[in-house]
Amino acid sequence: MQPQLFVVFGATGDLTRRKLVPALHHLMQEHEGDVRILGVARSEWSDEDFRREMREALAEHADLTDEKLEAWCDACLSYYSLANTGHAHGYNGLRERIREIEETAGLPGNRVFYLSIPPAVYEKTVEQIGAAGLADADGFARLVVEKPFGHDLASAQQLNEKVHEYFSENQVYRIDHYLGKETVQNLLAFRFGNALFESVWDREHVEKVEITVAETLGVGTRAGYYDDAGQVRDMVQNHLTQLLCLVAMEPPTAFRAGPIRREKVKVLESVRPLAPSGAVLGQYAAGEVDGEAVPAYTDEEDVPDDSDTETFAALTLKVDNWRWQGVPFALRTGKRLPEKRTQIAVYFREAPISIFENRQYGLSPNALAPNVLTITLQPDEGFDLSFGVKRPGETIELDTQTLSFRYEEAFGPAPEAYETLLRDIMRGDQTLFVHADEVEASWALYAPLLGEGRPPLRTYPAGSCGPDEAQSAAQGDGRRDEQREEPAVA
Ligand code: BG6
Repeated sequence: MQPQLFVVFGATGDLTRRKLVPALHHLMQEHEGDVRILGVARSEWSDEDFRREMREALAEHADLTDEKLEAWCDACLSYYSLANTGHAHGYNGLRERIREIEETAGLPGNRVFYLSIPPAVYEKTVEQIGAAGLADADGFARLVVEKPFGHDLASAQQLNEKVHEYFSENQVYRIDHYLGKETVQNLLAFRFGNALFESVWDREHVEKVEITVAETLGVGTRAGYYDDAGQVRDMVQNHLTQLLCLVAMEPPTAFRAGPIRREKVKVLESVRPLAPSGAVLGQYAAGEVDGEAVPAYTDEEDVPDDSDTETFAALTLKVDNWRWQGVPFALRTGKRLPEKRTQIAVYFREAPISIFENRQYGLSPNALAPNVLTITLQPDEGFDLSFGVKRPGETIELDTQTLSFRYEEAFGPAPEAYETLLRDIMRGDQTLFVHADEVEASWALYAPLLGEGRPPLRTYPAGSCGPDEAQSAAQGDGRRDEQREEPAVA
């Protein structure tokens, strides 16, 4: 890891405290790279205030021993206040401050600019970073942008244009923290490191794929952001879409950013345009989660009484290419569901005929249960493959059993997603980050679910599995003949 200055915009915010600083602490200790951190925000804090606050954040969020907490380098942290952010001199002053830190610390001018700020000010901040010449570094300059990248296709394109005025694509790191999860990366290892499954990973053998991201949490204190976003923008356009791409993509030529990102874009370009009738949107009403009564979405803090923001989305996508034509990919995600679980279930086709329907021995009730491969990304990360076995006894009776693998049992706890992502940013590896083309293709795909003409909003009691309408939509199976009735238009 080269010596570098890590500039965090939005340094007083929650993400910095909960995720960035604990991850930076770990990376700085593990890799012993010379990394300095400059926090930037509007609050009028001093260096000392920032150092104290970040030390408190570490104690609260990083689960460190006293010894490791003691080893945290306070002197590596500085703070710059942009109280007057609208004025160019704020950014000129920031440029001088950056130079001063680089000189004093003997850094070669490598800079990472991390936008941990409200999405509404991304464009303006990029403009100010660029106009003040902060990206004209002696070493490398990298820009990190948190999701959501844009609010729809037009705003994402506009933001990409602004970013590209000052940064080329190979300097830009668009974060989707799901890509930093060890188990998400393992999807690629599982698919492309094992010939066994890859040879049955297609329309001939797979009946349907279900991708589920369920949460028990409600909107919490994030209504300011969430009520304007909703579940499609907050979860489907990014996290679920990334999972879809990793499940459906063709083998890349190498485990590198370029080949992987190209294959993901091809998946998105192959998805059949979505009709609003192919999706169910819902909003949670009052109910009970984990045995506790919880309020309706519209009664949550800072949510308008008449909000029509969706907190649940279920939709079925068709990937029209040679590998997947006719196989439905059912995506479903919601807040205030009965449990927190992220899972991909691949349903294989049933055996073509049952040879167990033998009068002499009796008919097995489970003779044709399909094999299901379940990839669990959280909470108990691992794989389960169900298969049929004969129950002991005179009659031929089949039973479903499971082969299971759990990451934690084999390898211990997985590293935090943010640690993986920050390490890659600092080393300059873009494999786990989203390319401009991906983000635009994905917004284009979900346009029918955003704004006017989107599906009607249903309600569901908190703690249930979502609106009733979504249960019937989920039953849509993968019979190819049904799928062929609809023309596959590009
Ligand atoms: C975030 C969303 O990106 O992901 C949140 O903004 C959501 O609304 C969170 O709760 C879920 O992440 P994880 O890692 O807990 O599944």
